[in-house]
Amino acid sequence: MRRSSESGSGLLGSPRRKSSPSRGHISEMLHALPHTSAGFRCLVIFLVCIILVYIASTSFGFSTKNSMGSMARSKVQDNEESGPDAMYHMRQRISTLEDELESLKHSLLATAGETKNFDDVKYRNEETRKRILVTGGAGFVGSHLVDKLMRDGHEVIALDNYFTGRRKNVEHWIGHPNFELVHHDVVMPYFVEVDQIYHLASPASPPHYMYNPVKTIKTNTLGTINMLGLAKRVKATVLLASTSEIYGDPEVHPQPETYWGHVNTIGPRSCYDEGKRVAESLMVAYNKQEKVNIRIARIFNTFGSRMHMNDGRVVSNFIIQAIQGKPITIYGNGEQTRSFQYVDDLVDGLIALMNSNYSMPVNLGNPEEYTIKQFAEVIRDLVESKSEIVMKDAVEDDPKQRKPNITVAAQKIGWKPKISMRDGLMKTIDYFRDEIQKNKKRSIRDDEI
Ligand SMILES: NC(=O)c1ccc[n+]([C@@H]2O[C@H](COP(=O)([O-])OP(=O)(O)OC[C@H]3O[C@@H](n4cnc5c(N)ncnc54)[C@H](O)[C@@H]3O)[C@@H](O)[C@H]2O)c1
Repeated sequence: MRRSSESGSGLLGSPRRKSSPSRGHISEMLHALPHTSAGFRCLVIFLVCIILVYIASTSFGFSTKNSMGSMARSKVQDNEESGPDAMYHMRQRISTLEDELESLKHSLLATAGETKNFDDVKYRNEETRKRILVTGGAGFVGSHLVDKLMRDGHEVIALDNYFTGRRKNVEHWIGHPNFELVHHDVVMPYFVEVDQIYHLASPASPPHYMYNPVKTIKTNTLGTINMLGLAKRVKATVLLASTSEIYGDPEVHPQPETYWGHVNTIGPRSCYDEGKRVAESLMVAYNKQEKVNIRIARIFNTFGSRMHMNDGRVVSNFIIQAIQGKPITIYGNGEQTRSFQYVDDLVDGLIALMNSNYSMPVNLGNPEEYTIKQFAEVIRDLVESKSEIVMKDAVEDDPKQRKPNITVAAQKIGWKPKISMRDGLMKTIDYFRDEIQKNKKRSIRDDEI
């Protein structure tokens, strides 16, 4: 990679100089750095510092006792020389360092995004492009929402504390100029200028929200207050991802938004159910008192790719058990009902709600209703599995039936689900097959190590 100082182009495409680089040249080089990872920037700044120290040491005779490897050798060499020879060596060294920087730049950009193939992103001008914050943006639903908003040409900030979310879910956008990933916990205030906030941060599956019930309550109360405070300050519209769990074990079927629910305040699910109920109350209070523009989505069971493998939700449990040929376990007699929507439908519903002018709660779910036993059979058939279906003791406070009434969604935001449960399941089964395969390869590799 070494070239003479008289040939080729300089660092980051600037013309190579015959004399040592000036401060202006260094800062030009830094500004010329494209959108790269912070790590790469730090590396370049570090290397540029080395050049500057080197120039200073050779020009002013400073002693650099601890300088590294070749730098140290060259310093000794330079001290033994003087005049034109010393200048010649100095130029050579700078040229070599510039070459090394350039080669590092290319190898790092190749992995850090410059050559990444992003999905197509719609062009939007300043007037129609929005700055959007998605809390819980690295989670299952959040990451699909981020995908859709990004493709639609908006600037998106995905905020997550990675409790149940994964960087991997949004890594395909890292490096894109419209995208930012922020590691933050919504229990702590967060300040940013945005037009819209989708507030999704909260564990969503029973094992996750029961793992630390106090934190679940804090996330849904303090976290929601923080997002509402932010919305108030910057005049953003805020959408809360609420849940059908606020209906508890419902006595009204299907559940319309006017139903107040039937929740056990001290049961194992109460940290989540009551947390979301308070979150809804907070939304309405900020709307009335502080005139914050609010949207409340009551989300029913949703499934799709990027669901956690082991989060104990019915869809992932059944699919994984069927693929692995293990018994499919049903808790209770299997007669309890659920309705499942595919994640793409939910994302369309969330965006339609956000951009509507409707501030009352809206059910978002697929009204196709199945008993859990039927659901297990459908999955077994689609997977073409021979798994047997086994019943275990019912789980405490497990709702007996769930089915959304989606009349409000149809009338107020013009939304209804488009993807049938079977079509959604086929896509999800493919996803889990792939994940199981990858895990197998990983564990074989680990065994080999
Ligand atoms: N998936 C469903 O079936 C469903 C149903 C009803 C409601 N919801 C709601 O939708 C939202 C998203 O659910 P999901 O299924 O994608 O779950 P998920 O667990 O995949 O996503 C939640 C995300 O929030 C993050 N998070 C949790 N606590 C946080 C905190 N204190 N600060 C910052 N980030 C935090 C997690 O790390 C995760 O990335 C949740 O609010 C959930 O209550 C989901």
